[in-house]
Amino acid sequence: MGKPKVVLGVSGGIAAYKACELLRRLTESGHDVRVVPTASALHFVGAATWSALSGHPVSTEVWDDVHEVPHVRIGQQADLVVVAPATADTLARAAHGLADDLLTNTLLTARCPVVFAPAMHTEMWEHPATRENVATLRRRGAVVIEPAVGRLTGVDTGKGRLPEPAEIFEVCRRVLARGVAEPDLAGRHVVVSAGGTREPLDPVRFLGNRSSGKQGYALARTAAARGARVTLIAANTGLPDPAGVDVVQVGTAVQLREAVLKAASDADAVVMAAAVADFRPAAYAQGKIKKKDGQEPDPIVLVRNPDILAEISADRPRPGQVIVGFAAETDDVLANGRTKLKRKACDLLVVNEVGERKTFGSEENEAVILGADGSETPVPPGPKEALAEKVWDLVVTRLN
Ligand SMILES: Cc1cc2nc3c(=O)[nH]c(=O)nc-3n(C[C@H](O)[C@H](O)[C@H](O)COP(=O)(O)O)c2cc1C
Repeated sequence: MGKPKVVLGVSGGIAAYKACELLRRLTESGHDVRVVPTASALHFVGAATWSALSGHPVSTEVWDDVHEVPHVRIGQQADLVVVAPATADTLARAAHGLADDLLTNTLLTARCPVVFAPAMHTEMWEHPATRENVATLRRRGAVVIEPAVGRLTGVDTGKGRLPEPAEIFEVCRRVLARGVAEPDLAGRHVVVSAGGTREPLDPVRFLGNRSSGKQGYALARTAAARGARVTLIAANTGLPDPAGVDVVQVGTAVQLREAVLKAASDADAVVMAAAVADFRPAAYAQGKIKKKDGQEPDPIVLVRNPDILAEISADRPRPGQVIVGFAAETDDVLANGRTKLKRKACDLLVVNEVGERKTFGSEENEAVILGADGSETPVPPGPKEALAEKVWDLVVTRLN
């Protein structure tokens, strides 16, 4: 089998230079990449760069090498088309089926998955015309990843920044691995919580846990690659924002509850992968708690935190919503998992065994996914993304 064929469309935004890194990542990971820039893109990065980095000729129009019929062949032969950055203009032309350059011809002839990574000023992104064009492309099955928030061209900051090339690459890798043109979470809003809450004792100390957030981030990343709009509620992870995901940073269990309830009001699925503290210190000391000579320290009095999973499972902010919980157990894993599933009344519970050197912080996971319908789906040891994909498979069956 030859290398997977990827078309990298580049349109005329200031972030075009970042597509060079995406191109490098794609070629170095064994993909045959054909770059199709727009004429405007060449104002930012020249044809020589695209050609040298990809090892293929580069043109913007349908009139070069006409004997090879490139306006049809490039799209027909592609396993994936990714447009990064996608300008407001290119999104508009793609949404309306225009075919006025090589890239838009390629988009019309491609029958493989298509990913757009838009980048533009916030005003352009928020304009109703762009919103409608993005909705049209998503409805037709394209994965349009949400722009990141941050520094834009000139002095402005806001939403509209191209996500990091490494993150766009991850989306491409996931989409290619699934190899389906119709992303099965398209049009869905999913909420994922990740990381571990920290419950402050005083300005310098907290009660925390060992959760790294990697499993939750894998869930967010895979959902975005399957076409979902994703809100990731991240508690103390320090991980880079996944491409195309709206990230809300929180610290404590109470903050996490607030953020989840707000995001869940219009969500199709909520996956609670964060390790939420069951208890928090009853009192918060305004100043650092000091050692007192000859005295034992005061005991720490704890109070219960809200049980977010049970609350959201009981209330279901949106009818038909699928709720997934995680149970980290150290012993009697399955029996404890079944009891927890009943008590929480969620639809699915991902049960895994944890320990100081098991699961937390590692790249791998192993679990059994218990269903409220009595089902048991074992997921063998493997990357956290593999477990994430399995969770979404089960969510999709329940949503449909
Ligand atoms: C310096 C500069 C930066 C630009 N950056 C963007 C951008 O980030 N996103 C965007 O949608 N348009 C941007 N534009 C406007 C596009 O280049 C313009 O709409 C062009 O027609 C897009 O053509 P294309 O979609 O065929 O590439 C920029 C223009 C200039 C001069």
